[in-house]
Amino acid sequence: MDIHHIAVIGAGTMGSGIAQVCATYGYTVTLIDVIPEQLDRAQTSIRQSVEKLHAKGRITDAQRDAALSGIRTSLRMEDAADADLVVEAVVERLEVKQEVFGQLDRLTRPEAILASNTSSISITQLGAATCRPDKVIGMHFMNPVPLMKLVEVIRGLATSDETTATVVALAKALDKVPVEAQDYPGFISNRILCPMINEAIYALMEGVGTVEAIDTVMKLGMNHPMGPLELADLIGLDVVLNIMEVLHRELGDDKYRPCPLLKRMVAAGHLGRKTGRGFYGYA
Ligand code: CAA
Repeated sequence: MDIHHIAVIGAGTMGSGIAQVCATYGYTVTLIDVIPEQLDRAQTSIRQSVEKLHAKGRITDAQRDAALSGIRTSLRMEDAADADLVVEAVVERLEVKQEVFGQLDRLTRPEAILASNTSSISITQLGAATCRPDKVIGMHFMNPVPLMKLVEVIRGLATSDETTATVVALAKALDKVPVEAQDYPGFISNRILCPMINEAIYALMEGVGTVEAIDTVMKLGMNHPMGPLELADLIGLDVVLNIMEVLHRELGDDKYRPCPLLKRMVAAGHLGRKTGRGFYGYA
């Protein structure tokens, strides 16, 4: 199936990054959110990101122009109606995503593909909220979307080969590297990443090392570009906790037990970069 028009639902960090990358590579993009201020923030951050990438020579003049002119914003879900593919990037709550998928199923053409950028919710369950589970798939981008090469492509139980092939081809057209994963909790990325971050928080709580020591060991000893605590601040501590809760509940193994310090920090509202305070402070 040919993809021309992509609708992105949710204009937070991930949704705006996805919209930006799709427009950079020449797709017509509609970015939809119910909160006008969120759309304003997205437009500002997309502009800043595009200008930065262009100044560094990472995108061409034509790609900058395409990214800056190719995104239409909207407050109405109906504006996704003629999209060939929709990427949902709303809050990580099953009932909210199911509601969005049900709405998209009623609004969009029957052949349109409905993808989710979820980091932990079952694609099979989202497919079940529609009458087209064969066209429902996970398209999991990494933060920051314009810089990270991976797109994890998650097949729900009913996702068809044709849908998977279309999404794999789209990811390649966006200059990303698609990797297929099956629909089990956390898929591949968060099944491995979040327990590592959780373990780093246990190490901090037990006094094995300071924040700086833990991050430095992983950066200089293992060549990770960021330490696990710095990365937790980037992802959002609430997101990490939510994923650990999903792994713990769905896989039923205590090795996924969320660290009490992580829970305390989330309860205190110290969620990382987005709140100005996490394991580090941010101006
Ligand atoms: N657009 C444009 N520029 C951006 C940007 C964006 N969205 N985000 C950051 N940058 C810029 C920074 O402002 C900085 O600019 P300056 O050089 O002007 O200071 C620059 O990128 C940093 O780039 P560098 O190449 O110098 O730095 P780096 O080599 O450290 O790369 C990084 C930065 C790519 C973020 C790297 O640190 C990294 O790979 N970190 C790990 C990120 C990661 O693991 N992400 C996955 C998170 S998990 C997830 O997303 C999934 C989930 O479900 C939880």
